[in-house]
Amino acid sequence: MVEHILNLRIAGIVQETATAVSFLLEDTAGNDIVYKPGQFLTLIFNHGLHEVRRSYSISSPPGNNNQVRITVKRVHNGEISRLLLDHYHTGDIIKAAFPAGMFVLDDNKADKARDIFFLAAGSGISPVFSLLTSILHNTRNTSVVLAYQNHSERETIFRSELEEIAEKFSDRFKWYDFVSYPEADRHSSMRLNNEILEALIPAATRYQPADTVFFVCGPPSFMRMCQFTILLMGYRAAQIKKEYFVINTPPPPPLIVNPVERMVKVEGTREDIYFTTVYPSTILESALEKGIALPYSCRGGRCSTCVAKCAGGEVVMSMNDVLTEADIRDGLVLTCVGYAVTDIVLTYRQG
Ligand SMILES: Cc1cc2nc3c(=O)[nH]c(=O)nc-3n(C[C@H](O)[C@H](O)[C@H](O)COP(=O)(O)OP(=O)(O)OC[C@H]3O[C@@H](n4cnc5c(N)ncnc54)[C@H](O)[C@@H]3O)c2cc1C
Ligand code: FES
Repeated sequence: MVEHILNLRIAGIVQETATAVSFLLEDTAGNDIVYKPGQFLTLIFNHGLHEVRRSYSISSPPGNNNQVRITVKRVHNGEISRLLLDHYHTGDIIKAAFPAGMFVLDDNKADKARDIFFLAAGSGISPVFSLLTSILHNTRNTSVVLAYQNHSERETIFRSELEEIAEKFSDRFKWYDFVSYPEADRHSSMRLNNEILEALIPAATRYQPADTVFFVCGPPSFMRMCQFTILLMGYRAAQIKKEYFVINTPPPPPLIVNPVERMVKVEGTREDIYFTTVYPSTILESALEKGIALPYSCRGGRCSTCVAKCAGGEVVMSMNDVLTEADIRDGLVLTCVGYAVTDIVLTYRQG
């Protein structure tokens, strides 16, 4: 089995806003939960024979790996968000895949003098909060800018924590607080749009624009607006990291794959696993059909939980919104949208 599963106990529940709740989770075995800021947990629910998975970003500030926090926003008609908010209590146990995801900081440059912009809306603050607090605590030279869009002050997740951080790190943390329907006098109604962003970025930039990194997380239209604006301003695509919470239906398979049965070898630490795959099944679908537990969450090429390294052979992907050009050069592939063009060898990072 390739996938590693955690059993997590709910150690506490915090109502953040009327529609968002944080769950503090600890490993029932008492082990630390090892994650990088910006990563997510994929919760696994069994409804009879039917398995349902949903990912939730870790929103914890640094300091306590014994207990991690996820923050779940209620989605109208949502199956799992409503289940969690309405029926889960302190002490309940939830199964989860090990923390995963590529919405993380490139470690090599951790304390470089550079600007890191976080562009978040609504529950998109969850991975951003973990990232920005960790950067502020663990570096001395990095300048951090947050542009955070919300419907109202009351619906702003982590508002009071952000106010404290803004005061504590006033020399190198700047928070642009956008509220569409303000309740307080100090706010005028403001929505982050391309014109505002185009003015905000140069005004808040302190270091070389070529070293700037952008982290974007929010609803699809917000993410599109941010991405296009940043690219039009002349930044490179590699400078933008994106985390999608809303996954569209899986993309159609590419029409170029020869429908010949291919052998997949998954190299394991103890033993190798072999299975066959044939177009139009993806590598992940073929594995799951045969009862082989490869990791996955969205099944739509957006979250990167299923990422593997192709150490031999060739894989084509029908879409890719998370792997960078460098990742692809390193041989990384998304098995949920990946098709084997030859016999292939896959390796997985161990949880
Ligand atoms: C990598 C990753 C990290 C995530 N982190 C978080 C997080 O930190 N906090 C959080 O609250 N959610 C997060 N999500 C979203 C979460 O996984 C679920 O998709 C969300 O809770 C809805 O699940 P559901 O079962 O309630 O809704 P479903 O029953 O799956 O969907 C019901 C309807 O809501 C729409 N929908 C699905 N997701 C969303 C959404 N996020 N916003 C608006 N409409 C939606 C669907 O298209 C569908 O029409 C993350 C998703 C990914 C892929
Ligand atoms: S499972 Fe989400 S990208 Fe493959």
